[in-house]
Formats: sequence, structure tokens, C-alpha cells
Amino acid sequence: MGTINGTTEKQSEQTPNTLPPVIPRHVAVIMDGNGRWAKARGLPRTAGHHQGKENLRRILEACVEFGIEILTIYAFSTENWGRPPKEVRILMSILNMVLDQEVNKLDQEGVQVRHIGKLEGVSPHLQKKILQACEQTKNNNRLILNVAFNYGGRDEIVHAVQEIIRDGIPPEEVTEDLISRYLYTGGLPDPDLIIRTSGEFRLSNFLLWQGAYSEYYSTPTYWPDFDKTELLKALWAFSHRRRRFGMTDEQIDKLDQS
Ligand code: FPP
Repeated sequence: MGTINGTTEKQSEQTPNTLPPVIPRHVAVIMDGNGRWAKARGLPRTAGHHQGKENLRRILEACVEFGIEILTIYAFSTENWGRPPKEVRILMSILNMVLDQEVNKLDQEGVQVRHIGKLEGVSPHLQKKILQACEQTKNNNRLILNVAFNYGGRDEIVHAVQEIIRDGIPPEEVTEDLISRYLYTGGLPDPDLIIRTSGEFRLSNFLLWQGAYSEYYSTPTYWPDFDKTELLKALWAFSHRRRRFGMTDEQIDKLDQS
């Protein structure tokens, strides 16, 4: 295990009870391990997704409390359509339920709901609810909840390129900044921290472009068990990382002093 600023990732795994000095503005989460959480309890996989939904509420509240500005969650990928039809139906119905039960509450709490991904392929009924939730909450600014639903990082880049061509933008005007603006996340800062639960070390097509300089954090904890303390551990680990963005330590020291 490597040394990070004189401390190790292992040390930062101690149970924290205070907030670290540096809080990431934008945290993204790959909420993995619902199926294994359920299996370990002799329950159907879908019970894990329901528990995952409950946990989402807890983590959302913790993010507001900790002063995180943007939370992006990976709720359904473009590849998840390949899951057994019953599981796909349940995941659709969970989003439906969240939209029915939570949007007014989220609105009152000052949460702005955004959708990233394709609406195409989602039932017209659900499409309408997603758009309504975004419209209803669009002026809120306490926390942005970016829901990646029917989302794939490659699909997002293809979509951006198509839109750029459609808009007749000449090749010499295609810059990194322009591409960023054409992504589903256009206008939002890149994630500072990407968390993956359940011990996996994969991106699984999540925020491929935006994650270029994100810090990654993986924990063996399954998503339904990833509580406020687990989030704090991730935030502490993040605060010990040295983000160099391709520069040297000395350059970063100078920038910190200026
Ligand atoms: C991955 O766990 C999880 C998902 C594909 C769905 C995530 C959904 C939720 C947390 C519920 C909230 C949902 C919405 C729509 C707001 P997995 O099923 O791959 O778990 P496994 O790897 O253990 O099988």
C-alpha cells in the first residue's frame, strides 16, 4: 500500500467521526453489490435493490450535511438492459417509486434533480416523470443529484460527437472544453471523487471522459451497507490524496502557496 502525504490509505480506514479538512465538490458513486447483499441474506436480488434505494436517501442526506455540492449516482447503465427482464422491470419500478415518493421532499430540501443518459428506450410514462422531476427542481441549489439512468460513458461521447456534427461545428473549434459542454453533464464540474462499493475496481462505462482526473475509492462494503461512516471514510481517504493533474509535487506546492 503506497504512502500518500505521509499517511496510508490503511490509516484513513480508521472509523472517523469528524469531517476532513477538504470536502470534494462533486462525488460520484457506482452503487454496486445490491445482488450480493441480498444473496448473503438468502433474499432475492431485487430485495437488494430495494435496500439500495433506502440507502440512497441516507447517503443523500449525509452529502447535504457534509456540504457536498453534487452527487452523481449510477442507477442504471446502458448495459443493464441485458439483465433478466424481471430485474430490469424492478429497477424501472424503483425509479418510478423514487420519483413518486421523493421528488416533493427533494424539492423542499433544495435538491436539484438532473438526469444524465438517454431517455430513448425508457417507457414514455417514466420519461415524463423524469422530465417533470428535473423541471420541478431546476431552481434548487442546495445539492445537485445527478441520476445516471440508461447511461453509458461511451454512448455519452457518441451522442456528444453527433450533436457537435449536427450543430455544424468546424473541426478546429472542437476542443476538450467544447466536448465537455456537449456531454450530458455539460456545465457541471468533473467529479473529484468516484466511489465504487462492493470491492470492484472497474469503471463499468461510468463518466469515462469526466473521470480523467477524478480520485477513485473502492470499498468492499456492499452498497446497501455503505452508510454515513463509510462515506466519511471515503472523504478522509480523498483528503489524503495529492491531486497533481499531471504536474509535479513542487509545482503543486507553489500553486498551494500562491
Ligand atoms: C449494482 O448492483 C446496482 C444496480 C445495477 C442498480 C443500482 C440501483 C439502486 C441502488 C437502487 C436505486 C435505484 C434507482 C433507480 C434510483 P448489482 O445488482 O450489480 O449487485 P451485484 O454485483 O452484487 O450483483
